Amino acid sequence: MDFTKLKELLLKYKQEHLLRFWDELNHNQQEKLYNQIMTIDFELMDSLIRQTQQSSDSDIQVKLTEAELISLNEREKSDKEMTQLGNSLIKKGKVAAFLVAGGQGSRLGFEGPKGVYPITPVRKKSLFQLHAEKIRAISNSNNVTIPWYIMTSIANHADTVAFFEENNYFGFDKNDIMFFEQNMLPAVDKNGKMFLEDKDSVFMSPNGHGGSIKAIWDSGALLDMKKRGIEYIFYFQVDNVLTYICDPAFIGYHAKHDAQMSSKVLRKAFPEEKIGIICNINGKTGVVEYSDLPEEDMYAKNDEGELKFWAGSIAIHVINTDFIEKENITGFKLPYHIAEKNIPYLTENGEIIKPADKNGYKFETFVFDALQHCERTISIEVSRELEFSALKNKTGVDSEETTIRDLNRFYSDWLKRAGIEIEGIGNVEISPLFANTEKELIQKKHKIPEKITGNFYLE
Ligand code: UTP
Repeated sequence: MDFTKLKELLLKYKQEHLLRFWDELNHNQQEKLYNQIMTIDFELMDSLIRQTQQSSDSDIQVKLTEAELISLNEREKSDKEMTQLGNSLIKKGKVAAFLVAGGQGSRLGFEGPKGVYPITPVRKKSLFQLHAEKIRAISNSNNVTIPWYIMTSIANHADTVAFFEENNYFGFDKNDIMFFEQNMLPAVDKNGKMFLEDKDSVFMSPNGHGGSIKAIWDSGALLDMKKRGIEYIFYFQVDNVLTYICDPAFIGYHAKHDAQMSSKVLRKAFPEEKIGIICNINGKTGVVEYSDLPEEDMYAKNDEGELKFWAGSIAIHVINTDFIEKENITGFKLPYHIAEKNIPYLTENGEIIKPADKNGYKFETFVFDALQHCERTISIEVSRELEFSALKNKTGVDSEETTIRDLNRFYSDWLKRAGIEIEGIGNVEISPLFANTEKELIQKKHKIPEKITGNFYLE
């Protein structure tokens, strides 16, 4: 430890208060604090702090126009061909699954990684198990191994890995799952000072899901993918229980358009819905967060009298390995977004305060900002009922109640359309390993009773 160097660094960036309790710390604690401070990119923090002190850029004029989108209607003509194309790429081993699970899940308020949350209607399988079974199912049906990359963050990495170990990697070969952590960065108060969360620790938070573009590179995951011959990465989030992981049609559209990064969108339920929209921002495809969407664009109509900006992003993407390489080779370039938050901190007296009001800023990058760096990108529409139901909150909208309801409805609809009668009230669940698509379920109809009652599970 070079204390003089540490002190000089902190003085240069006006953060010397981080050493307020230094003399009270034992050697190990000092080393811990020293090492943590040394991971901070002070140049970056300096520029972010300056941004917090400038007036908001919300009055910068941006012109929004409709992005190139393939609607559900248009998909009817080409889905079959695109599915075949996607399946052929999967079969050739060119596709990997990539889960971002580094978030803090603060709205859900669950102890531990969100992926551990028990969620399926009958067996109460965790989100991680549900995703694992979907990936294994699509690997099995294509007679190939789809490797799975999982991004965590320092707060949930050990618990995530331990959960997979305890569950024998949910049937995966351990070598086909790779975990890696995203970067963290400090939060600052309204005067640009970083917070201590403990006497020997600076408060840091994950750098947003956009950090995945960098972490996948820094960790060697991208290199591992390239060695395996992976060209397409299926990117998804931990909390959408209806994600059709490695959807071959989506991969097909992406490849056919020679896109670098593609997105799935759904039709907004109403203009004010809190979902980011895919559109062209000053001529380049990107996502505008619902909070940044100007009111006139929110309600704008197209020539058919429908909502002009109807395409809500559900954070499912296909990204080329080559594109991620390009994004990193000249340095990570995603912009940081500033969010005002309530940040717990240690006072000068060593007291921990959990503020009731927003007392500082966190900095996050968003993966969809990478769309703005693409020369070619495509978005396809999906049906909300079939592909989107997320676990975000403890109660109400996007909660355990709504995700279980949606999973039940999803599986029951498959069974009903297959001609199975469902009697009475009960929960229904179909393991992806039994059928990962409705078509697969119909092929196995002879294995299902004609009439089911009560809680029903198929594996
Ligand atoms: P959310 O934006 O819903 O955030 O993340 P969250 O952290 O899970 O939940 P809240 O907002 O604190 O309640 C969407 C997806 O992006 C991942 C999450 O794990 C989730 O899969 N994510 C988010 C990261 O991997 N890293 C981050 O820094 C942020």
